[in-house]
Amino acid sequence: MVSDVSSDVAGLVEAMTVDEKASLTAGIGLWYLPAVERLGVPALKVSDGPSGVRGDSLIGRRSLSLPCGTLIGSTWNPDLVRQLGAVLADEARDKGVHVLLGPTVCIVRTPLAGRTFESFSEDPLLTARLAVAYVSGVQGGGVACCIKHFACNDQEFERHTISADVDERTLHEIHLPAFEAAVKEAGVWAVMTAYNKLNGVYCGEQADLLSGVLRDDWGFDGLVMSDWFGTHSTVEAAVAGLDLEMPGPSAWLGPSLAAAVKAGDVDEPVLDDKVRHLLGLMERVGILGGDPVAGRAELENDDPDRRAVAQRVVAQGTVLLHNDGVLPLSPDAIRSVAVIGPNAGALEAGGGSSEVTPHRRRRVFETIAERLPGATVVHEVGCRINRELPSLDLSLVTGGALSIEYFDNNSLSGPPIGTDAAYRPRLIWVGEVQPGLPSNRASVRVRADFTPDVGGPWRLGLESAGRSLLRVGGEVAVDNTEPKRGVGFFGAGSAVVEATVELVAGRSYVLEAEVWPRSASSPILGVRIGADPPQLADEFERAVAAAAAADVAIVVVGSNGAWESEGFDRPDLSLPGEQRQLIEAVVAANPRTVVVVNAGSPVEMPWATSAAAVLMAWYPGEVGADVIADLLVGRAEPSGRLPVSFPKRIEDTSAFGFYPGADGHVAYGEGVFVGYRHLSTRRIEPQFPFGHGLSYTTFDYGDVEVGRVGAGSSEVQVPVTNTGERDGHEVVQVYLQGSGEQTERTLVGFAKVQVAAGEQSVVAVTVSDDALGHWDVGTHGRVTEPGTYTLLVGASSLDIRVTTELTVP
Ligand code: BGC
Repeated sequence: MVSDVSSDVAGLVEAMTVDEKASLTAGIGLWYLPAVERLGVPALKVSDGPSGVRGDSLIGRRSLSLPCGTLIGSTWNPDLVRQLGAVLADEARDKGVHVLLGPTVCIVRTPLAGRTFESFSEDPLLTARLAVAYVSGVQGGGVACCIKHFACNDQEFERHTISADVDERTLHEIHLPAFEAAVKEAGVWAVMTAYNKLNGVYCGEQADLLSGVLRDDWGFDGLVMSDWFGTHSTVEAAVAGLDLEMPGPSAWLGPSLAAAVKAGDVDEPVLDDKVRHLLGLMERVGILGGDPVAGRAELENDDPDRRAVAQRVVAQGTVLLHNDGVLPLSPDAIRSVAVIGPNAGALEAGGGSSEVTPHRRRRVFETIAERLPGATVVHEVGCRINRELPSLDLSLVTGGALSIEYFDNNSLSGPPIGTDAAYRPRLIWVGEVQPGLPSNRASVRVRADFTPDVGGPWRLGLESAGRSLLRVGGEVAVDNTEPKRGVGFFGAGSAVVEATVELVAGRSYVLEAEVWPRSASSPILGVRIGADPPQLADEFERAVAAAAAADVAIVVVGSNGAWESEGFDRPDLSLPGEQRQLIEAVVAANPRTVVVVNAGSPVEMPWATSAAAVLMAWYPGEVGADVIADLLVGRAEPSGRLPVSFPKRIEDTSAFGFYPGADGHVAYGEGVFVGYRHLSTRRIEPQFPFGHGLSYTTFDYGDVEVGRVGAGSSEVQVPVTNTGERDGHEVVQVYLQGSGEQTERTLVGFAKVQVAAGEQSVVAVTVSDDALGHWDVGTHGRVTEPGTYTLLVGASSLDIRVTTELTVP
């Protein structure tokens, strides 16, 4: 029950019919709730998230593309993440969005999980602190967060059906704390249920979880919505505590719930509760008295102040893993740089629902050249990591945009009834292509004025939901009018059809893709234009030769949304393609090689210490190319620390042997020994430990003092001296030394500080008594025994500088 239901909400619930009330329990289309016009209840709008706010368009309305979760996790800086939340709220308001579908706070249980990049960390305390900051920032701006995915959506393998089998202690110590903190401390306004089952029952039907833990134990008074197409029943889901089925048209709640109430299968007060949660949310986001932005077009606001916050987040979330002193580069001493690698152009992002269309696509080799005006900068791709025919690079298209024409027939005839511009190469229309024009009665032409940067045989292609053709200069080049089944476009897509076309560098070509429905019942239209530049047989050798001839080689490797995405997991920890060989060959050719890794999850780095420096850049969003260049030349300082362990081999990871499960179940057999808890307890040496990250300066730790600060917590005071010549950030980490059944090391507190060169700062780290305790299955609660605890204070989970003791009275 919403505890403080306003008279408005109570009055509306009273005034509504059962059908009106039930109508609010199911979405309309992908992103909206229905309005109840008779009573002036407006239509609530939701949007993904979490690394930007996409809005309701799947064709590429632009918004600020922000860093992925693991980069945010690497900041270890809740204050900064709160500012990022405020930026997200501004972005949401520009898109008329009331509920942001994020943050993703599931724990990184295995680095192979496809959505690892969306999560913050493998550690519950770090995840919880950042979740509270993120939610407070967004909701402080008047926009709701829908924290997700509740609970244990920790892998994509069989994500719609698998049962995560987790014991009570592990659930409460590892997998639930971030949700709990977001509810209790940040008062999060909405929660999204996970697709998977938890201990055999779908999360959306888990009364113990939704009514027991979430509402009764934590006092949650907000809205519980399903993940998209993740509702499986009417009565079970409704009674268990699911308030809203997304998206529409509904299959289980909505009219079916109205029928169940009328038939007496669900009590009307159960429905009333849901409506109170829904109207309560509308009241919180300030639209119950009328939505000021309803019906307004979504804005594309490229705001420099928001970008500046994103830049600070990226600098503070980029992790300098290794540095033999080559970084920062000194611009005066460098006359030539080879920028190499498949990700050295526009940086990549993870795939799936978190994707947004950026305002700008800067290329790393260009931003590096801008920072080193006195040097010759050459760019060589070295190898390619395309899993499928790559999409047309919009930086080679006039205006960076595709122009779209909509026709109210299936044959592209007559004048278009509407036009649009799109800033992404994959376009999709679900339900309607334009207001009032259903996809199945429409056709669409997409035009690109394309100027190839290299000449030769280009592979051009099409993937579409519907039948399609690609014309080059008016001539049909690719015919996909009899599409074969593919996997894209929510399963409605065709296989890719391609042709090789000889193109001349610098000449402009008109590419036109035409798409129309496959049948009268197709609800989805979509098209993606593919264009793969001619490949030189000696790309690899050219890259190595360029490296050998340059003062410094910068290799930008990594992954992309075709390898790392919602919907599937990674097969292993390796970098796709020949990237390992490329790094090793470049390192052999030039000892001054810096490797920049643009990926969202840990990758194997057997070459790490043979390179001169390694920067983990994650998926930094649209400011990334500029910030990375600033970091390389020392205009900014990388101050991230790893929020996940980087193992040497997959066999060393805690879920190995349990993941991905079999027969519909995955046992969380590692229990609480997740990530560094496992590695430290088993004395397994990682490639890079949890909490690790270097700086452009060095820090000394002095004698530590510990004292009580009020009931329930202590403070560890750590004098930190910057012993180098540059200002820098340090993240002081406090671990509990475990014994017996406890893990060897448990993060119990941390603080990030900036210390000027040569200065000392006394860093205060709060450690709550709760953090020192454990979940007790006898009392179903956390227990901290009075006594003396050993604390390890250091700069990572392995770099312990001081040991001290703390007494809980
Ligand atoms: C994802 C959610 C997302 C939703 C809407 C689902 O596939 O699991 O995280 O918010 O789609 O796009």
